[in-house]
Amino acid sequence: MSGYERPDFWTIKAKKEGYPARSVFKLEEISGKFGLLKKQAAPRILDVGAAPGSWSLWLLRNLEGRGSLTSIDIQDLGIAPADANFAFLKGDILDPAMRSRLAGRGPYDLVVSDAAPSTSGNRLVDQSRSEELVEAVFSLALEVLAPGGSLVMKIFQGGDEKRLITQLKAHFAQARGFKPTACRAESFETYLIAIDFKK
Ligand SMILES: C[S@@+](CC[C@H](N)C(=O)[O-])C[C@H]1O[C@@H](n2cnc3c(N)ncnc32)[C@H](O)[C@@H]1O
Repeated sequence: MSGYERPDFWTIKAKKEGYPARSVFKLEEISGKFGLLKKQAAPRILDVGAAPGSWSLWLLRNLEGRGSLTSIDIQDLGIAPADANFAFLKGDILDPAMRSRLAGRGPYDLVVSDAAPSTSGNRLVDQSRSEELVEAVFSLALEVLAPGGSLVMKIFQGGDEKRLITQLKAHFAQARGFKPTACRAESFETYLIAIDFKK
């Protein structure tokens, strides 16, 4: 299958299932592989870089009214869920005031981040912006995760993944990189997965 056919398949599937973006299938695969939603009966979840909202919608559908979901992005969501257990905060994850607001809504059993900078075309610049976001989400997660919690973060490959995995291993029982099948073949994104937070 070529790199051009594959995005069409995932995009059409996402549309059929009512999701605004194909990225939903990356979270679905990660969650299935690492059992992210099986650890708690009513998980409290934080979704960072949530717009246009596919991950948030998928999480809400799978929570089925249990637990809670807090989503944050600098952009508006393209979805408007009316679920009572859902809140969207518009703002920047790098902003200390926003981080305090998010911490105030915690603790969380699961923090997921698909946050990514808008790409400049310069791979080194994009990598370093992606790493800045990852560092910000990582440090927030250390503050807001409940013991036993999990963390998923997108990162652009080619930079500091190894160092970050080593650092994650100091705080979690398991940590590794994982690239879901739904990632575009030409994309250099991957995900860092950390399970069982040792508070
Ligand atoms: C690939 S999209 C996320 C897609 C989303 N997971 C979904 O399934 O719909 C990356 C998002 O990260 C957000 N983002 C980038 N920098 C951010 C920041 N500093 N704070 C909050 N969100 C940020 C962007 O606005 C963008 O919506």
